[in-house]
Amino acid sequence: MSDRYAVIGNPIAHSKSPDIHAAFARQTGQDVEYSRLLAPLDAFRVAAAEFRASGGRGLNVTLPFKLEAFDLADEVTRRAKDARAANFLSFEPGRIRADNTDGAGLVADLTANLGVTMEARRVLLLGAGGAAQGVLGPLLARQPAILTIANRSVDKALRLAENMGHQPGAASTVVSGVGYGDLAGHHFDLVINATSSSLQGELPPLPADLFAPDSLAYDMMYGKAPTPFLVFAQAQGAARVADGLGMLVEQAAESFFLWRGVRPRTAPVIDLMRSQ
Ligand code: ATR
Repeated sequence: MSDRYAVIGNPIAHSKSPDIHAAFARQTGQDVEYSRLLAPLDAFRVAAAEFRASGGRGLNVTLPFKLEAFDLADEVTRRAKDARAANFLSFEPGRIRADNTDGAGLVADLTANLGVTMEARRVLLLGAGGAAQGVLGPLLARQPAILTIANRSVDKALRLAENMGHQPGAASTVVSGVGYGDLAGHHFDLVINATSSSLQGELPPLPADLFAPDSLAYDMMYGKAPTPFLVFAQAQGAARVADGLGMLVEQAAESFFLWRGVRPRTAPVIDLMRSQ
């Protein structure tokens, strides 16, 4: 029988993770089965326990259960602790291990797929919710010159910046939290949208001259059409724009590697997902 995994969330019908993991399994010859698991909003623990009891080996966890997944684990990695959330669970004899592969997925997409150098560059992260918190540690580890966190509720940005400022590796980076109004007159080499504004078809109130000449605008969301943020970035002179499909495939590859010990090639799977 195949080893069983699933992505758990609510809603979950839209998730591309089963297609991505099926492609990884074909490519690497791993005998795995990966499905979608809809958990009731108030019964994540029950659904996860049932999946484990029925022989499930691990779960990817998506909204709104990443915090509960973190709390469920017996062992959590440093990067899950930094994110205070887990998108990865491994069910092992006598213990549940949790990790967070979102930040690693983002950084892999930026550096390996898009050729971005972050060292000594000016990086702006938009948003201070769960998605932003999940990627801050791995971004900081790349030692940008500046890591600015901008958010509508400024206090949340300030809190995140304050927490990250104490991280190892933060010494070479100026980390700060600001409101959108404070961005006027500042320019960035990399602007990452980690707000959920694209889901509502909206855009944070950004000044027009945000993008440095060689800059990349990156939206962690993706969809059939470019997000409002990417449309804005292109119009305002960002040299390149990218959506979060590459990050999705890269975080999945990191999960696959943690479960199976085999690292799949991601480029053909990103192409495949793009063509669907
Ligand atoms: P997620 O897990 O997707 O990060 P979240 O924790 O609810 O979800 O955080 C949503 C983020 O998107 C927050 O940074 C939120 O800003 P506030 O903290 O000020 O609410 C941001 N956000 C959502 N809609 C937005 C909009 N229309 N414009 C700007 N920021 C928005």
